[in-house]
Amino acid sequence: MIYTAIMGHGVVGSGVAEILLGHNSLINQKIKDEIDVKYILDLRDFDGLPYSDKFIKDFEIIANDDEVKIVVEVMGGVNPAYDFVKRCLMAGKSVVTSNKELVAAKGAELLAIANEKNVNFLFEASVGGGIPILRPIAQCLAANEITEIKGILNGTTNYILNKMIVDNMDFDSALSLAQEMGFAEKNPAADIEGHDACRKVCILASLAFGKHVYPEQVKTEGITNITLTDVEYADSFGCAIKLIGSAKKLDNGKITATVKPMLVSRSHILSDVDGVFNAIMVTGDAVGDVMFYGKGAGKMPTASAVVADVIDCAKHLHARKYVDWSEGSTDYVVCPDEKVRLYVYIQSDNYDMICQQFTTLFSDNTWHIKNDFKKEIAFITNEDYESTLMEKINSIKADTVKVMHTLF
Ligand code: HSE
Repeated sequence: MIYTAIMGHGVVGSGVAEILLGHNSLINQKIKDEIDVKYILDLRDFDGLPYSDKFIKDFEIIANDDEVKIVVEVMGGVNPAYDFVKRCLMAGKSVVTSNKELVAAKGAELLAIANEKNVNFLFEASVGGGIPILRPIAQCLAANEITEIKGILNGTTNYILNKMIVDNMDFDSALSLAQEMGFAEKNPAADIEGHDACRKVCILASLAFGKHVYPEQVKTEGITNITLTDVEYADSFGCAIKLIGSAKKLDNGKITATVKPMLVSRSHILSDVDGVFNAIMVTGDAVGDVMFYGKGAGKMPTASAVVADVIDCAKHLHARKYVDWSEGSTDYVVCPDEKVRLYVYIQSDNYDMICQQFTTLFSDNTWHIKNDFKKEIAFITNEDYESTLMEKINSIKADTVKVMHTLF
């Protein structure tokens, strides 16, 4: 018998309990042993469930029970999850988590402890919800040097942007709907300000490139400034606005890592990823581009990935799995000046002047739309170094100047 414990009985935790207890015979068949949930840790009371007798409120019970070999951490946040996970690993228990905040902040340290104790620390559900992505990068693409990862990593923002594009819904109404549907994080700021996607970029980049990337090293911008006007102009330019997380390996061994809203050409496969779905493109030197697509949020898709990790731990109780990376360093993530095309939106009551500035700086041949009635211009620059383009854009004197990157 292999005993597990689940720490946290929120959206994901309850899904994990349902699958582990509901699919018990299927899982037992797969691991060729019997698995059971011995404890569920949560400070709240959950009466009337078929497994209500398993609830405890004291973490020490799990830490001190040598029979518990696998612990699932689905509480979220860094504290007290970090302390609990560390103690479980130190006590020789394998740990499975969906907690991207924890892995993005402390992954290298926790992996090193797991290594030392010869147990597993697995977190497939921390990126892309139910989409298999970490295991494929570490195992199926192991023969490749990964050069780039980019994608839509946050279901809530993709859902909001999609509602704005398809249903002409404003940002606040679309956010409320996402919260009602249970996609958004407890604090929606983590989604809409890009922190959730940033944490996922950290995990992907750390795994793909072998060195920890910390959240503060990723230049992060969310979608709170995106308006229906931007969405409409993007559409006129044949693009959809998407929140794109990306990490790229440079020739000098350093990497770039960003999260930002971008205008994605309708001819790019990522522009078709709608609703709560996530899609992650991985580029390897041998395989080329591969894409992973599926439900990036929600109770059962995320629980599906968590339970798969539990099964993997159960099958490898005395063997370490593939995942590892080393601690990061301050000069590892850089922001080089690269050639880009930018979307620019300018509005001013002094419309004649901005039209003239636009013509002088960018020429009338630039792909543009003028709205004489609203006194605004939107355009997409030709490709040039970002610093050169930004110098020109910064010299424009207007009431509103908004800039976004493009992905063609
Ligand atoms: N709030 C996250 C999202 C949940 O919307 O993608 C999954 O990480």
